Amino acid sequence: MKKYYITTPIYYPSDNLHIGHTYTTVAADTLKKFKIAQGYDAYLVTGSDEHGQKIQQKAKEHNMEPKEYVDKIVADIKKLWDMLEISYDEFIRTTDKEHEKAVQKIFKTLYDKGDIYKSHYEGMYCTPCEAFWSESQLVDGKCPDCGREVHLAKEEAYFFRLSKYRDRLIKLFEENPDFLQPESRRNEMLNNFLNEGLEDLCVSRTSFDWGIKVPFDPKHVVYVWIDALTCYISALGYGSKDDENFKKYWPADVHLVGKEIVRFHTIIWPALLMALDIELPKKVFGHGWILFEDDKMSKSKGNVIYPEPIIELYGIDAFRYFLLREFSFGQDGSFSREKFLQRLNSDLANDLGNLISRTVTMVEKYNGGLLPSPVKEEEVDKSLIEMATKASDKVEKYMDELNFSQALEEIWKVIRRTNKYIDETTPWILAKEGEKERLDTVLYNLTESIRIIAHLINPFMGRTSEEILNQIGFKEKLDWQDTKKWGKMEAGTKLTRGKVLFPRLDIQKELKKLNEANEKLIEERSKKVEEYISIDDFAKIELRVAEIIEAKDHPKADKLLILKLKVGEEERQVVSGIKEHYKAEDLVGKKVVIVANLKPIKLRGEESKGMVLAAEKDGKLTLVSTLEDIDSGASIS
Ligand code: MSP
Repeated sequence: MKKYYITTPIYYPSDNLHIGHTYTTVAADTLKKFKIAQGYDAYLVTGSDEHGQKIQQKAKEHNMEPKEYVDKIVADIKKLWDMLEISYDEFIRTTDKEHEKAVQKIFKTLYDKGDIYKSHYEGMYCTPCEAFWSESQLVDGKCPDCGREVHLAKEEAYFFRLSKYRDRLIKLFEENPDFLQPESRRNEMLNNFLNEGLEDLCVSRTSFDWGIKVPFDPKHVVYVWIDALTCYISALGYGSKDDENFKKYWPADVHLVGKEIVRFHTIIWPALLMALDIELPKKVFGHGWILFEDDKMSKSKGNVIYPEPIIELYGIDAFRYFLLREFSFGQDGSFSREKFLQRLNSDLANDLGNLISRTVTMVEKYNGGLLPSPVKEEEVDKSLIEMATKASDKVEKYMDELNFSQALEEIWKVIRRTNKYIDETTPWILAKEGEKERLDTVLYNLTESIRIIAHLINPFMGRTSEEILNQIGFKEKLDWQDTKKWGKMEAGTKLTRGKVLFPRLDIQKELKKLNEANEKLIEERSKKVEEYISIDDFAKIELRVAEIIEAKDHPKADKLLILKLKVGEEERQVVSGIKEHYKAEDLVGKKVVIVANLKPIKLRGEESKGMVLAAEKDGKLTLVSTLEDIDSGASIS
């Protein structure tokens, strides 16, 4: 059996992936299912890219160890892939022990060969992006990626001799037009990077330690690209005792990546492989971005579209269909809820859903639900049969080009043609006029065309395909070659009407629903993040024990008491909203806890410097104090 190895990028564990992130995985999964349908032994690798300064900082903000922090996020990523029914064979984590060993081995091999050497790195550094930039790359003196401040930094570092591989890389691009697609990205790499000359690449860091240690110099950790890119081979067992999968599946038939990481996959990655004497991947495909209203989606801009509400409301297949049909894989595209809902109505409810329900209903109505035999052919049948049986050749061609959208369009041509066939043959008139033989033939042809359609959409929309095959009673194991044949459905098969595949939607109503569900999720997720404060945040709050030395009612407010407090040597006034719960005279001499460094304010004309802490539940309120007596001024931590 011929193998086919597909990879997605190894994802950063950013909490909560948006629909853009799901694009590569959905495409990769569809391609894998398509290749399996064609008879390949297809293997899909995805994973998580967990090291680096950013993650280390994030974990610290959450008061967690980096591994503990990423474990939680990676579990969420896997949950999302499960929700989307992504059939990956291996989920590689850069924190996997076997991967760490492989990276160390690779680093050492390259060092021993002289392809990695020690030197110094100096440049403008952007901490959030963990990136050094040259002066010319800065935009208005700031990081070209995130627009934040950069600072001059210099550190001892190891370098990979990327420059040495420039000529071989140019040759690779020139001799293998298929290596990088689409074509436009190939020109970009050649003109913007390779022809300009290549600098050696910094491949280690000393400024943080959340990473794989350089085996012979452990104050250095391996910097992201060697760590992440090598996942594609470590996931297959490269560098370990069990490298059967590496022998079987490498080289990758295609690395699917977003356009912004094409450079790493088509320059750095092949150069590393050349240095390691490993065969190069056959193809890298750099797909476009899914934007929102022509803008990049980002949490900070508040324009993130999450996949979960869409899937929960309309199902995985509608989501997968839209992603692959609406956008042209090589180019950027803008997501819009309207477009999504319109496609759901037109392509899925009207075209596909209607065809199935009309046909099954007619077989039930005119033939008791049993598939009749085709006995009376007419000229019009030919064009339907021709189109249905020829579609898979076209779908294969487009899938070879990773043109998912056009592949789906070819299938929809058959769907639309089959719907048109109903209008052309008017089975209800045939029934009325007692044209039984012709009616039988039409019903058979419709069902047979649906069988082919269900089969063709199987790699794209597995659930819908199964549901359709169930309704038409087709129970045989699917064999892709059968998409090219006419006459596989057996007369006498029982057809059974099932659930409506895609109900027609009221777009305005659904828009509101979808929007609200997304907003709700954004809110929930931002709350979840806010649940944690770091120890540094907590340290900003100065809590002290204070003794109440005087208390009186506020002359201008019903609910406020004015308290004079002794905090160590200092005396201060605090206004507190506890009058409904305490009488002024009962408080004198009591010790309470206050927030001592709260910005002073005036409450109804009286200065309040700090805040007295109290616990409250179901309308009951009690002031907070310490368990044992302690002098006022004592600090609480
Ligand atoms: N960790 C690196 C990849 C290392 S591979 C050896 C990385 N991770 S990522 O999480 O930022 O991105 C993962 C994938 O999601 C990339 O292919 C990226 O292009 C894709 N997308 C993220 N946002 C996207 C859109 N808005 N639209 C389409 N794909 C986008 O990069």
